[in-house]
Amino acid sequence: MKINKATESDIEAIISVDHLTAHDENRRRHICEWVSGDSTFVAVVDNVVVGYAVLEYTFFSQGFISMLIVAEARRRKGVGTALVSHLEEICKTGKLFTSTNKSNEPMQALMQSMSYEPSGIVHNLDDGDPELFYFKKLN
Ligand SMILES: CC(C)(COP(=O)(O)OP(=O)(O)OC[C@H]1O[C@@H](n2cnc3c(N)ncnc32)[C@H](O)[C@@H]1OP(=O)(O)O)[C@@H](O)C(=O)NCCC(=O)NCCS
Repeated sequence: MKINKATESDIEAIISVDHLTAHDENRRRHICEWVSGDSTFVAVVDNVVVGYAVLEYTFFSQGFISMLIVAEARRRKGVGTALVSHLEEICKTGKLFTSTNKSNEPMQALMQSMSYEPSGIVHNLDDGDPELFYFKKLN
């Protein structure tokens, strides 16, 4: 598996990994903005994009993983771990944050497996499904 910075030529492959884009025009626009802002990284296996992640610094100027998605058929094979590990290596701040819904047990399990610590809860973003924040101190 290789982790590469995404370029414009990866956009269609990223969209096909991310099912939400099928009915969410905003998500498609965000993907184009993330890629053109040099914030997007793709995991590639046998020349196929199998997942992507977005690293931004808009959260209190700290590194923040604002998106992480692995193609459904490729999950539980270490792709999510590889993407997050890569972001940890290139992150320009000493702390890396991310968040996920309370209902998202796979992401919480991934955070636990990678030794991320809970960093707080924000209510009222999605109705009835609080956002759990995580962080890791980087070396
Ligand atoms: C969350 C997500 C990115 C995980 O990616 P992944 O490639 O499947 O994760 P990995 O294979 O690296 O998993 C590493 C470890 O995390 C834990 N884990 C991951 N998914 C899990 C699940 N569905 N159930 C229980 N534990 C899970 C396990 O400890 C796993 O190790 P193991 O497979 O050896 O048991 C993936 O499920 C996904 O794309 N979900 C939809 C999008 C999403 O919710 N993104 C996060 C919020 S932006």
